[in-house]
Amino acid sequence: MTKLITTVLTLLLLRYGAISEAAASTTKHYIVYMGDHSYPDSNSVITSNHGLLASVTGSIGQAEEAAIHHYSKSFRGFSAILTPEQAQQLRDSESVISVFESRISKLHTTHSWEFLGVDAIPQYNHFTEIESKSDVIVGVLDSGIWPESESFNDKGLGPVPKRFKGECVAGDQFTVKNCNRKIIGARFYSKGFEAEYGPLESFNRTIFRSPRDSDGHGTHTASTVAGSVVNNVSLSGMASGTARGGMPNARLAIYKPCWFVVCSDADLLVAFDDAIHDGVDIISVSLGAAPTSFFTDVYSIGSFHAFKKGILVSAGGGNGGLPGTAIHPAPWILAVAASTIDREFYSNVHLGNSKILKGYAINPLEMDNYYGIISATDAAASGVPLRNASFCYKNTLDHDLIKGKIVVCLGEAVTSDIRSDKGIVVRDGGGVGMILIDPTIGNDFGFQYVIPTTLLDPKEAELLREYLTTEKEPTARIYPTRTTTLNTIRAPKMAVFSSMGPNIITPDIIKPDITAPGVNISAAWSPVGIEFTGDRSVDFNVLSGTSMSCPHASAVAAIIKSHHPSWSPSAIKSAIMTTATVMDNSWRPIKKNPNGTRTTPFDYGSGHINPVAALDPGLVYDFGVSDIISFLCSTGASSAQIQNLTETPFVTCNNPPIPTYDLNYPSIGVAKMNGNVSVLRTATYYGNGPTVFKAAFKNPPGVRVVVEPHELKFQKSGEKMSFRVHFMPYKTSNGSFVFGSMTWSNGIHKVRSPIGVNVTSI
Ligand SMILES: *[C@@H]1O[C@H](CO)[C@@H](O)[C@H](O)[C@H]1NC(C)=O
Ligand SMILES: *[C@@H]1O[C@H](CO)[C@@H](O)[C@H](O)[C@H]1NC(C)=O
Ligand SMILES: *[C@@H]1O[C@H](CO)[C@@H](O)[C@H](O)[C@H]1NC(C)=O
Ligand SMILES: *[C@@H]1O[C@H](CO)[C@@H](O)[C@H](O)[C@H]1NC(C)=O
Ligand SMILES: *[C@@H]1O[C@H](CO)[C@@H](O)[C@H](O)[C@H]1NC(C)=O
Ligand SMILES: *[C@@H]1O[C@H](CO)[C@@H](O)[C@H](O)[C@H]1NC(C)=O
Ligand SMILES: *[C@@H]1O[C@H](CO)[C@@H](O)[C@H](O)[C@H]1NC(C)=O
Ligand SMILES: *[C@@H]1O[C@H](CO)[C@@H](O)[C@H](O)[C@H]1NC(C)=O
Ligand SMILES: *[C@@H]1O[C@H](CO)[C@@H](O)[C@H](O)[C@H]1NC(C)=O
Repeated sequence: MTKLITTVLTLLLLRYGAISEAAASTTKHYIVYMGDHSYPDSNSVITSNHGLLASVTGSIGQAEEAAIHHYSKSFRGFSAILTPEQAQQLRDSESVISVFESRISKLHTTHSWEFLGVDAIPQYNHFTEIESKSDVIVGVLDSGIWPESESFNDKGLGPVPKRFKGECVAGDQFTVKNCNRKIIGARFYSKGFEAEYGPLESFNRTIFRSPRDSDGHGTHTASTVAGSVVNNVSLSGMASGTARGGMPNARLAIYKPCWFVVCSDADLLVAFDDAIHDGVDIISVSLGAAPTSFFTDVYSIGSFHAFKKGILVSAGGGNGGLPGTAIHPAPWILAVAASTIDREFYSNVHLGNSKILKGYAINPLEMDNYYGIISATDAAASGVPLRNASFCYKNTLDHDLIKGKIVVCLGEAVTSDIRSDKGIVVRDGGGVGMILIDPTIGNDFGFQYVIPTTLLDPKEAELLREYLTTEKEPTARIYPTRTTTLNTIRAPKMAVFSSMGPNIITPDIIKPDITAPGVNISAAWSPVGIEFTGDRSVDFNVLSGTSMSCPHASAVAAIIKSHHPSWSPSAIKSAIMTTATVMDNSWRPIKKNPNGTRTTPFDYGSGHINPVAALDPGLVYDFGVSDIISFLCSTGASSAQIQNLTETPFVTCNNPPIPTYDLNYPSIGVAKMNGNVSVLRTATYYGNGPTVFKAAFKNPPGVRVVVEPHELKFQKSGEKMSFRVHFMPYKTSNGSFVFGSMTWSNGIHKVRSPIGVNVTSI
C-alpha cells in the first residue's frame, strides 16, 4: 500500500468511520478465539498457537510470519493474516470457538467536539464527601495518556497496590518515570492496526510509539475517571475553577490500542487480556462498534473474561442516536448512555441593528469589530448548486464574496457532515467568522472552529433571516463564550446523539443500562492533539459523547468497589442501575434533546446515575457465570461455544432453556409477550437488621402486573429472596415495547427496575 492511499484512508476513517476493509487483498486480519486455557505459561500457548496455525499455513515459519498477536494470559487465541480458506479451516478445528475478521472500532466522540473553557464539573462535587479507599485500580482502554497533565499528579497517594502486576512500558517520549502512584501502569499496542493499515509513520500525523497520547481522547477519559483535583484551572481567561475526576484517589492503568481515533479489534483483545491479568478492578472502554454476536465481538469476549475475574467493564453505549443503535448488548457489560448537565455555553451574535441573538458555542476567539454578513447561498461559486454552497463545503464558495465577511452556513446530515471543516473552508476563502444553522442536531453537538463561530437554533435563525432580507448591508459581531450554570436549566436531558435500544442481539435485556453526563464535559487533554481543537494546543478540553459518560459510570463503579470490595461485577451494576433516577432537576420526566421529546428506558436504561444512592442500594440483583451460561443457552448458543467461553465442563442446556428474561438482571424486559408471562428475580439484602420491602408498580399500558410474594421480609444482611412478577396483558402493544416499572421499598431504600415488554398477543 502506498503512502498516499494510506493517508486518504485515514482521513475517511476519521471523518466518516465508514471504511472497514483495509484493502482489496485476498488475505485479511482474523482473530482466532479459543476460550480459556490451562497452559502453564504464555510461551506454551504461543508454541501451541503456532502449531495450530502451521496446520493451515504449511509450516511453523509461515505460521510465525502470519501471526500478529497471541492472547495467552487471561484466555487463549491469536490473530493472524489469513486467506478466507485458511480462516475456514481454522473455524473447523476442534479447539477453535470462533474465527472473525478484526474490525475497527471508533472512539465515541466523532459526533461532538467542543472547545476549551474549563470549569468545575459541578455535578460531581459531592464526591469529595465520599470517603473511599485509594487502592482501586481502573484500567482505561483508549488512546493513551499525557502524563504531565496536572490531573495525573500523585500527591497524597500511597504506594502502588502490591497486587498490581502491570508494567510501565517505555517508548517514544515515554519512560518508566512517566508512571507514578496515579498512573501505575501503561502499555500500548499497534501490531493489529499496522497489519491492517500500514505503518503508523505513513499517516503523516503526530504519533508516539508509546503510551503517550497524541490525540487527547484517552487523556480526557482517564482524567474523567480518576483525575486528581486541580485547582484554579483557567483557560484563555474564559473560565476558572477546579477540575477533577470522579474518584480522584483511584489509580489508573493505561492501555493504548487506539490510533487516530480508531482501534483494531485484534489490539483491543490483547489490551483486555493484559488488563485482566494485571489485576485492575474496573475496566473503562469509551469505544465500540455495532455488535454481531457475543462470540465474535471483542468487547463481549474481553469483558466476559473480566466478569469472570470479578472485574466490571463499563462501556460507552454508542453515539448512533437512533432506535436499535445501542451497542454493548451483553448483560455482563455496563452500557452507558449520555445526557446533559445544567450548564450551557453561550456565544452570542450582536447584529448591526443592535439585536442580540443567543448562540451556543464554546468560542474563545475575540472578534474586534462588526463585519458584513453573507448567507452562503448568496456566495456560491459559479456553477455550484445553491444547495451545495449552503453547507459551505470545500470549493463551493466564491472567495471574493466572502472575503472579510461572516458567512452563514447550514449543517447537513448528522453523520457525514463535519462541522469543523466548514470553518476551515470559510477561513481559507478569507471569511472572518461563521454562523452555523443546524436544526437537525440541536445544541448537543459542538465542533471547534478555527475562526469565531456560533450556532443558532431555528428560532434565532429565523430572526437572523429576517434581518438579512430586510437590511441592505447587514453586519454582525460574534462574542466569545460565556458559561452559565443555572438551576433553571432543565437537566439532565438525553443527548441527541446517544444510542437507543432495543437491544438488537437479545431484546429481553434492556439496553443501554444507565445514563451519565456526556455533554460538554471538561477534562484534561493532550496539548499535541489539535485535530479537533481548531488547531489550538490546550491542556483541558470540553467534549461530548458516550465516551465522556462512560468514565463517569466507571468512576462510580470504582467508588462502589472501594466501599464493597467483595461485590461482584453484577452486584455493582445492580447498585448503579436500581438507584438511578428518571426525573430531571425539575422533578419532571427526563426529556430528549433537541426537541424535548418523551423518553423511555431505551433512551436511558434504568435512568440517570446517582452515585451517592448507589453506595447503599438496599437490595442487589446478582448473577454469576452459571447464570450467564443459562442465559447463553436461551439465546441458542451451542454448548461447545458456551463451554469454551466459560470453561465450564459438560454444559447441558436445560430443555426447554430457562427464558432469557429470567436472567437476574436489574431491569426487566420481555421481547415477546405471548399471553401471560411470569418473570423470576432474586434479591439480596444489604442493610442493618430485619426489614420488609414492599413492591409498587407502574404498569405498562395494556398489561396487569402482580408480584408474588408482595412483601420481602429479610432478617439479616446477605439474605436472598426470590419473587415472581406476573404479567397479564389485555392489549397488544402494536409491535412496539410498552414501559413501566417496579420499585421495592422499605421506607429507606427505593430499588427500582424499569419494565419493557412487547405484547405480541394476549
Ligand atoms: C472447545 O470445545 C471443543 C468441543 O467441545 C473441545 O474439543 C475443545 O477442547 C475446546 N477448546 C478449549 C480450548 O477448551
Ligand atoms: C505532512 O504534513 C505536513 C504538515 O501538515 C505537510 O506540510 C506535508 O506536506 C505532509 N507530507 C505529506 C507527504 O503528506
Ligand atoms: C488563579 O490563576 C490566576 C491566573 O492564572 C491567578 O491570577 C490567580 O491568582 C490564581 N488564583 C489562585 C487562588 O491561585
Ligand atoms: C454544549 O456546548 C456547545 C458548544 O460547543 C453548546 O452549543 C451547547 O449549548 C452546550 N450544550 C449544553 C446542553 O450545555
Ligand atoms: C453537489 O452535491 C452533490 C451531493 O451532495 C454532489 O453529488 C455534486 O457533485 C455537488 N456538485 C458540485 C458542483 O459540487
Ligand atoms: C426537531 O424539531 C425541528 C423543528 O420542528 C425539526 O426540524 C427536527 O427534525 C426535529 N428533530 C428531531 C430529532 O426530531
Ligand atoms: C392469565 O392470568 C390471569 C390471572 O391469573 C387469568 O385469569 C387468565 O386466564 C390467564 N390467561 C391465560 C391465557 O392463561
Ligand atoms: C394500539 O393501537 C390501537 C389502534 O391504533 C390503539 O387503540 C391502542 O391503544 C394501541 N395500544 C397500545 C398499547 O398502545
Ligand atoms: C415486537 O414483536 C413483534 C412480533 O414478534 C415484532 O414484529 C416487533 O418488531 C417487536 N417490536 C420491537 C420493537 O422489537
